[in-house]
Amino acid sequence: MTEGKTGKMRVAIGCDHAGLPLKEEILRFLADEGPQAGWEWEDFGVQTTEPVDYPDIGQAVAKAVASGEFDRGILICGTGIGMSIAANKVRGVRAALCHDTYSARMSREHNDANVLTMGSRVIGPGPARDIVRIFLTTAFAGGRHARRVGKLEQGGC
Ligand code: RB5
Repeated sequence: MTEGKTGKMRVAIGCDHAGLPLKEEILRFLADEGPQAGWEWEDFGVQTTEPVDYPDIGQAVAKAVASGEFDRGILICGTGIGMSIAANKVRGVRAALCHDTYSARMSREHNDANVLTMGSRVIGPGPARDIVRIFLTTAFAGGRHARRVGKLEQGGC
């Protein structure tokens, strides 16, 4: 699956200090499979384990996706929860916290999720690689789900 002006899927990835080990694993995964799969990516940081505030990175990646500059985002913190909350504050972002492959697939097919969040302290590298692969290759199913996602985009109650 390819998207965007370049014909490639553009992925923005970021983490906080707690998420750094898993982000480094996912960057190795993108380097392994990205060229053949047609993925381009940009690392929004952080690069050290110096404590930072996850909303800063989460919202930077989320805004980059919402603006259309990137097709998908991947955000990693200790649990994935803070990044999910932060990203979902940005209009146009549908962030999904996924620690299993079924949820990752459904987040794309049913929710058209455009940001994946994971917790470095929750999931190991092998399952995380599988989750990212599924998140980047599964298409939105559309149909009745498009109506529901449209209601999400109309805003809150
Ligand atoms: C940092 O200690 C931790 O709170 C953060 O990475 C994240 O898990 C928050 O949701």
